[in-house]
Order: sequence, then C-alpha cells, then structure tokens
Amino acid sequence: MRFPTFSVPVASWFLLFLSVSAQDRTTEQGEASIADPNQECIPYSYAPVAKAASSFPPVWQAATIVAGDSDALAKWNEIQGSIPNIAVKGTIDGDSSQSNNYPPDDPDCWWTRSQCVTPKHSGLPSDIANVPEPKTLGYGFDDGPNCSHNAFYDYLASKDQKATMFFIGSNVMIWPLEAQRALADGHEICVHTWSHHYMRFILSLKLHQTFYSSYLTAMQAIKLVTGVTPTCWRPPSGDIDDRIRAIANALGLQTIMWKYDSNDWKVGIQGVTAQDVDNNYQTLINAADDGTLDSVGAIMLTHELNNFTMSQAVKFYDQLSDAFDNLVPVGVAYNKTHPYVETDYSLPNFDEYISGRTTVSGGTPQSTSSNTSASSSTSMTSTSTTSPSALSDSNAGLRLSSSLWTYSASILLGTITYILS
Ligand SMILES: *[C@@H]1O[C@H](CO)[C@@H](O)[C@H](O)[C@H]1NC(C)=O
Ligand SMILES: *[C@@H]1O[C@H](CO)[C@@H](O)[C@H](O)[C@H]1NC(C)=O
Ligand SMILES: *[C@@H]1O[C@H](CO)[C@@H](O)[C@H](O)[C@H]1NC(C)=O
Ligand SMILES: *[C@@H]1O[C@H](CO)[C@@H](O)[C@H](O)[C@H]1NC(C)=O
Repeated sequence: MRFPTFSVPVASWFLLFLSVSAQDRTTEQGEASIADPNQECIPYSYAPVAKAASSFPPVWQAATIVAGDSDALAKWNEIQGSIPNIAVKGTIDGDSSQSNNYPPDDPDCWWTRSQCVTPKHSGLPSDIANVPEPKTLGYGFDDGPNCSHNAFYDYLASKDQKATMFFIGSNVMIWPLEAQRALADGHEICVHTWSHHYMRFILSLKLHQTFYSSYLTAMQAIKLVTGVTPTCWRPPSGDIDDRIRAIANALGLQTIMWKYDSNDWKVGIQGVTAQDVDNNYQTLINAADDGTLDSVGAIMLTHELNNFTMSQAVKFYDQLSDAFDNLVPVGVAYNKTHPYVETDYSLPNFDEYISGRTTVSGGTPQSTSSNTSASSSTSMTSTSTTSPSALSDSNAGLRLSSSLWTYSASILLGTITYILS
C-alpha cells in the first residue's frame, strides 16, 4: 500500500503516539490501557514506592516491626493488653498439628477448625460472613492486585460492577498502578495482609509484633499507593481466632469471611479440577435460585489471583447477575458509605447502588490530605510521577509507625492527589 507522501509523517507520529501511550507505566490510566497481559506483567518502577520501599519490610516476607520504630512499639504496647492470651495454633506455613488436642468446643472461635464467626471472647465484633440483604451477593476478590487484571477490570467496568478487593501489601508495592486502578474504578479496597502468611503462628511477643506488623504494613502500603487506609480485612485461608480478631479490631479492621467457597485458587492442587470450581459457582447460583438466600444474602470466596480465577469470574458473571437480585461490594451491602479512615472518600449506600448510583463523587478522593497546598503535587493521572520536594523529606518518609496513627505522613501522602477525569 502506498501512502501520499504527506501522510507518512502523520502516520508515524500516530503510531509513535500509540506505542508510547501503550507503554506508559507511570500512571494509573496508562497502565490500565495496556491490553497484552504479558506486557502488563513486566515489572516497572514507581517513584513513590521506590522512595518509600526502605521503610517497608521486604516484599513477600512476614513483616516485623522495623528496629527502632518506637511509635509502632508504643502502639503495640497500648493494644496488647486487650488481646486474649490464646495458645499458638500452628506454624507460619500452616502446619497446625500442634493443635490436634484443641478442645472440640472451640473456646477461641478458631474459624479454621469450626467456621466460627462469632467471637467467644468478649468485646469483639462478629465477623461478617454474609450480607443482610436477601438474594444479594457481597461480591469480592482476594489476593490482588494481579499484574494482568486489566481484562478483568475492563469487564467489570463494562458491567458497571464494583467489588471488594482484598489486596496483599506486597502486591500493592510491586503493582501500585494496578492497586490505584481499583480505587479509580470505584471498587472497595480491604487488607489481605502484607505477605499472605498464615495467621495462626502467633506465639511470642516478637511474633505478636510480626503479626501486628503484617496488617500495619499492608494498610500502609495501600495508603502510600492509593491514598486511602482500609478499615476491613480478610485473613489468608480464613485463619483467624479471637487473638487475631482482637489485633485486627484494635487496628480498626472489620473481619470479612465467607460462607461459600469457589476453590478457584486451588485448581491442580489436591485433586481440585476446573470442573469442581464450576460446580462451586453452580452451588451458589442454585442457592440464589432455590430460596436458600431469600432472607439473607451470601459471600463467596473468589480470587484475583491469575487468569483462571479471573476468567471464572467473567464466565459466571451473567449467571450470578441473573440468579441474584443484587451483586454489590460488601461495604455497600452494609451501607458503609465511608469505607476508609480518610473521610473524604465515599461509596454509595445499598439503596443508591442498586438504583444505579454505583459511585459517589466520581469515586475518587479529592485529596488524601488536608494539606492540599503542597507546592508540587503528584497526580495519578498526570505524567508526572514524583514530587521530589515531598518525597525527599525524610520526615515524610513512610516510617512504619507514624503514618497510620498520627497521619503525619499525610504531608507526603497529600501530594498523591487525584484529578477527577
Ligand atoms: C497474575 O496473573 C498472571 C496471569 O495468570 C500470573 O502469571 C501471575 O503469576 C499472577 N501474579 C501473581 C502475583 O499471582
Ligand atoms: C486470559 O488470558 C487470555 C490470553 O492471554 C486473555 O485473552 C484473556 O483476556 C484473559 N482473561 C482474563 C479474565 O484475564
Ligand atoms: C441500609 O440502608 C437501607 C436504607 O436505609 C436499609 O433499608 C438497610 O436496612 C440498611 N442496611 C444495613 C445493613 O444497615
Ligand atoms: C504543606 O505542604 C507544604 C509543601 O510540602 C509544606 O511546606 C507545608 O509545611 C505543609 N503544611 C502543613 C501544615 O503541613
């Protein structure tokens, strides 16, 4: 094919523009526009995370309070008196054989043993394990953000469907622009720990701190990257007892469990097949169809883990939509209109959501800090990714301690502002 000579530079410029924008790994919108999952999963560096990384534990390792972090230790000392003295139930890798003699009456409300969601120790809120509205699904996904999630998030966006995303802190640090997309798309973000280790290993004071820190670092990673601090969490593998509930409660985290399990993460493990996962989805659909959920709705455990788990969600979306009256984020089902510590972000209540108002105020926070007059600000939607004046301020660095409890780091975080598009 021959082009008129004048169109060649125009075409080249256009192709260059396309390829540049397709490879933009510096903004939420740029990253969200990448369509090739392999390209999505090529690692990139994001300046705010790179600058703060040394204040966080190594990714995918059980977090411990950073040495010398006196604020975190003080917080720990403040809360530890409220934590029941419960014996260790297993190892960090999930071996709970030492709990073989655990009493059958389940004195610690250990979900792993009994699916208990109503604490036996006083002063603790019950876990959320279903949603109060009839024929309603509390729709959510664990283990994200996954680098290759654009097709899945595009699909949810095409359905104007929001969900509750239980993010792992380590994934948030490695894939920050993907975490930002969840917020920009109007999803609800909850914590799924820093490193996805079993919770039951808590034994000594040191390990208490390890556990405590694994929440804190995940909350702080989400705050660093998205500007919001979650107030909900889900324990990996559902491994929770009253000790762990007490720590989560002291950190302001509501525990969200489930009653239905897709087992989507487990295909190829212990004989679980793709057909089993189909059957598990079908069990939930049947429950919605046969009246089982006519008085109280449901939550099913599903994952933003890999192509298979996300493809299953897409594959069953229409059937779930048909079987249920409503598919809503868990927080929406509970009218939790302020899902984060930062009160300038809101989600719709249940009635608003089901009448089609699935976002509030565009679904993005105006600002993450009261200090919006910062001289240079970082925008998720601009091509600038760093705010040198703010990020070089060592006081504003994300020390594990101060950012959460005093919000002093909001001076830094306030520079991560959002522009409504
Ligand atoms: C994300 O999904 C891709 C595609 O299935 C997979 O290769 C990758 O391992 C996943 N990443 C994580 C951290 O689970
Ligand atoms: C799964 O992978 C295929 C092949 O790369 C891709 O076309 C599809 O969009 C992916 N599905 C999801 C839900 O990520
Ligand atoms: C949510 O708000 C609606 C409307 O006010 C109300 O009917 C419903 O009971 C509320 N749900 C919960 C869990 O509070
Ligand atoms: C607001 O941010 C600017 C620029 O970073 C800083 O100079 C100023 O001290 C901050 N003000 C407050 C009240 O934190």
